[in-house]
Amino acid sequence: MELKELKYLPKAWKRGTDFLGTRYAILCGAMTWVSEANLVSAISNDGGFGVLAAGNMPPELLAKEIAKTREKTKAPFGVNLITVAPAFKDHVEVVIREKCPFVFFAGSIPPGRAIAEVKAAGVKLVCFAPVLSLAKRLIKQGVDALVIEGSEAGGHIGPVATSVLAQEFLLNVTEVPVFVAGGIGTGEIIAQYLALGAAGVQLGTRFVAAVECVAHPRFKEAFIKASARDAMPTSQFDQSLPTIPVRAILNEGTRDFNRLQLELLNRVKSGELPREDAQVKLEEFWVGALRRAVVEGDVEHGSLMAGQSVAFVKKVQPVREIIEELVAGAEAALARMAGEG
Ligand SMILES: Cc1cc2nc3c(=O)[nH]c(=O)nc-3n(C[C@H](O)[C@H](O)[C@H](O)COP(=O)(O)O)c2cc1C
Repeated sequence: MELKELKYLPKAWKRGTDFLGTRYAILCGAMTWVSEANLVSAISNDGGFGVLAAGNMPPELLAKEIAKTREKTKAPFGVNLITVAPAFKDHVEVVIREKCPFVFFAGSIPPGRAIAEVKAAGVKLVCFAPVLSLAKRLIKQGVDALVIEGSEAGGHIGPVATSVLAQEFLLNVTEVPVFVAGGIGTGEIIAQYLALGAAGVQLGTRFVAAVECVAHPRFKEAFIKASARDAMPTSQFDQSLPTIPVRAILNEGTRDFNRLQLELLNRVKSGELPREDAQVKLEEFWVGALRRAVVEGDVEHGSLMAGQSVAFVKKVQPVREIIEELVAGAEAALARMAGEG
């Protein structure tokens, strides 16, 4: 659907498109190992907003990936940095040095110093806000936009559903644009979040099976086969070893994680291993397991991080087609809400 044919969407997500500098206020959220130059540039070239995943990359590799993405697109894109990654401070330096226009902080409460640094460098900063009080604090600290991500999402998740976060945040945050993520698979639901006041949306899972995504064909196949109920969150076994739940398609990798958690829990309880070291080992497990699945195609023991929106991944499709489907669905739903169509 051409932009000129759209009657409702341009107005409904204007705040988002103005902020991002895009045709559509549809972000493809950063996915470690998945969101590299090819997928990110394809999303941005097709009118969305791609976000590079820095994950645990060595800083010089991140700089190269940014350069590679710039070779493939002139359109805006973002860089997602994990605040708990060992190289986080160096990653911040890289995005400032490379004059990246947008940076996303994910992983934990963003450190005030890093916020101040990127703001002073004129970089637009987007943060995840799991609770309203933190959102208000981040806005005071100068954060330019927020992403709220519900527990339906793939990867590391919080405890609250997107539908509840949307009501909490969209009805109470007007200062900055808010983008909604988690469980979004169709344009029809995008229209509902826009009607509630969202500036735009962020999807991850639906873009995994894109033609332009470098993920292994077996990884994509697992997404196509899975239904919503296959994408399950992990559990924390005991409060003496706090773990962040991860939503993934259930496989041996999930069971490997559970076995590791139990073993580490016992070592923490016996005093043999400090809690923090055990938590680092659990996070290292995910980074390695996700790489095995995405890059090597080990869909048995690797991690198949995916959201419940995996229900809407039906085939390998070009990014352009996925975005067009989302845009057409959202426009049609907005028309129906306006009493047309
Ligand atoms: C395989 C995978 C890896 C992800 N890795 C990251 C990451 O490195 N950083 C991040 O902020 N979010 C990460 N996410 C979350 C996505 O950016 C996005 O917010 C989420 O997928 C949206 O929900 P959905 O999966 O229902 O579309 C990941 C999601 C998936 C499916």
